[in-house]
Parts: sequence; C-alpha cells; structure tokens
Amino acid sequence: METVQLIVDKEVDKENIYSQAVDLLNQGEVVAFPTETVYGLGAVATNEEAVKKIFEAKGRPSDNPLIVHIGTIEEVSAYVEEISEKAKKLMERFWPGPLTLILKAKPGVLAKNVTAGLSTVGIRMPDHEVALGLLRTLKKPLAAPSANRSGKPSPTKAEHVYEDLQGRIPLILDGGTTGIGIESTVLDVTVNPPVILRPGGVTKEMLEAEIGEVIEPTPKEQQLESAPKAPGMKYTHYAPEAPVYLIENDCKKIEQAIEELKKKGHKVALLAPSHCAAASADYFFPFGEEEDQQQMAAKLYDSLRACDKTDATIILATTTSTEGVGAAIMNRLYKAAGGKYINVRNLYNQ
Ligand code: TXA
Ligand code: MG
Repeated sequence: METVQLIVDKEVDKENIYSQAVDLLNQGEVVAFPTETVYGLGAVATNEEAVKKIFEAKGRPSDNPLIVHIGTIEEVSAYVEEISEKAKKLMERFWPGPLTLILKAKPGVLAKNVTAGLSTVGIRMPDHEVALGLLRTLKKPLAAPSANRSGKPSPTKAEHVYEDLQGRIPLILDGGTTGIGIESTVLDVTVNPPVILRPGGVTKEMLEAEIGEVIEPTPKEQQLESAPKAPGMKYTHYAPEAPVYLIENDCKKIEQAIEELKKKGHKVALLAPSHCAAASADYFFPFGEEEDQQQMAAKLYDSLRACDKTDATIILATTTSTEGVGAAIMNRLYKAAGGKYINVRNLYNQ
C-alpha cells in the first residue's frame, strides 16, 4: 500500500483534503491525523473491521483499548450510559483539550474492539483545527490511539508517523508539529474520587480546582499495580533502542557521568536543558531552557526518536520536578528508562 502524505495548512483547500480522508474512513480505512497532543491513527469507531486495521497497522495488543475522539460535546451521550456532574464540569472546562474521560459505555453502540471488551470507554475532544475539521466533516466518532508502531515513542510530527507506518496506512494528514507533545491525561470518572490513569497536559491541580479531590498514583505505584486499570500502562513504552538512564539535573554530575561512561567505551546521547550543553556528550538534544516543562514535553519524543538515528550506546535524560505537567513528563521518562537511574558515585565503583 502506498502511503500518501497531505500537508494541511493555510495554503491548501482543506475541505477537499478532509473529504478525501472522510471517503477513506467511510470505506473502512484508517487515516493518521494531528491532534494538540500527538498524532492519532483513526478509524470509524462503530466499524469493527476498520478498528481492527488500527491494531494491525500498529502491532498493538488487542487487549489495549482505544480512545474515542469526538467533534462536539453533545455526541458523548450517544456513547455513554450516564454523565456525572463531575464529568460534565470537566468536559465544559477542558474540552476541546488534552483530557480523556473514562466513562461507562452504552452497550452495543461502539465496535467491541474499541474498548477491548471493557464496560468503559475513553472519550476526548481534541483541540486541533485539523482533528476537529476532520471529525466535523465525518460526523462520526473516531477511535484513535497514537499513530506510532506499538512500543515506539508517540509521533509529534507527520514524519514520525511516516517512519513507523509507511506502507501500512493509506493517508497521513500533515498538520506540522503537535503543540503539547505528550498524550492526554486519562481520568477515570467511573470511580469516586476520580483516578488519573495516565498523567498529561491537564494536571492534577487543574482537575482538583474544578471537581475537588483526584487521586494520582506515583510512577512506581503505577508500575507495581498488578492489574493496571489503564491496560496500556503495563506495556513497555516509549523506549528507544539504546538504554535510557535518568540523571539528576546537575551539570557537574552530568559531566562526570559522561566522562566515566566514555571511559567504559560508551557513546553517550544527552537529553538535558540547553545550558547543560555538556561538551563531552557525543550527541546533545536540548530540552529548551531550564525548568521550561512545556518545551521539555514538546521535545521529549522527537529527541528519543532522534537518539535512534545515532550510534549512541547509552542515553542520559535529566529529571524534572513532578509539579504540574512535570508529573506527565516524569511518567514518560520513567517508562522510557524502565525506572533506571544513574548514580554518579556508583559509576566510579563499578
Ligand atoms: O493524546 C492522546 O490521548 C492520543 C491522541 C491521539 O488523542 N491518544 C493516545 O491513545 O495516546 P493511546 O491508545 O496511545 O493511549 C490510550 C490510553 C491507553 O493507556 C489505554 O490503555 C487507555 O488510554 N484507555 C483507553 N480506554 C480505556 C478504558 N476504557 N479504561 C481504561 N483505560 C483506557
Ligand atoms: Mg500510544
């Protein structure tokens, strides 16, 4: 299959592009499109055969449910049993935006493979002109996970989608680099107090300001839970080919670690704030300014992917505070690193 990439910007006839995408979707095909978080791979959420193609193209385990994307708040009631007061408040405050709500699904409406057999469904309204343009032209819900091969970092550029899925999908809508860069917050509102299953751009503090207490497990707790409630959390994620180690954001310690690793014959890639331009790193991917977590989130996946294009044998990534969106960044970094930290003192003793 040939994969066509269409740029959607001010210069082009958007209606024409959306209608090409809608034709494919209505024929039961899959289409990749940008959202404000990462690129998604969409199929009509009521078409089981079409949804099956998402799992095939991604190589995704079939027990990992998909998020349903909608173009208007009114549609939600067609797919879910009831909308609590808290859920309603959150939709009004944060949609369109990077918040996925887990709600009780209405049986028999969405394709079974969308929810992977669960009685609940994750729904969100993306805050991106192209995603909304597509959804509003289609007038149907789109089941869409991130548009990467399973186990790869989520795509923040159309090129990332092409790298992973060329030949497997017919169309990519290229809307440029996504703004936020990490996936939506997944919040289970079927329980009280609601639980954050995956941290993201809408932080615990922002949620609590709207609806009161919200539970957010620590990264360790999320990994230790034997039956994770977000089934996707149990799979290895976002892992580049070379091993990733987390390191404290301290330029001196970073320099020392790099020196020791190079002595051991390593080629080192460093992901750190710009001012930590460790001269000795073989490859340096700056995260933007110190403590600019927005920049860090936006660049994280692109940097991890870029590491795969180098011959680095080890990747060091600096940690950040878990305040605000830092919780989401550390959640992704912790997974990419499989929880491994570099302790400079131990390096000397090895
Ligand atoms: O920002 C995003 O959310 C992106 C864009 C494309 O919208 N999508 C995305 O989808 O990240 P995906 O499939 O890569 O991640 C969906 C996460 C998984 O961890 C999945 O297990 C969880 O949401 N999830 C989906 N439905 C669920 C449900 N009914 N109950 C619990 N977790 C669910
Ligand atoms: Mg994903």
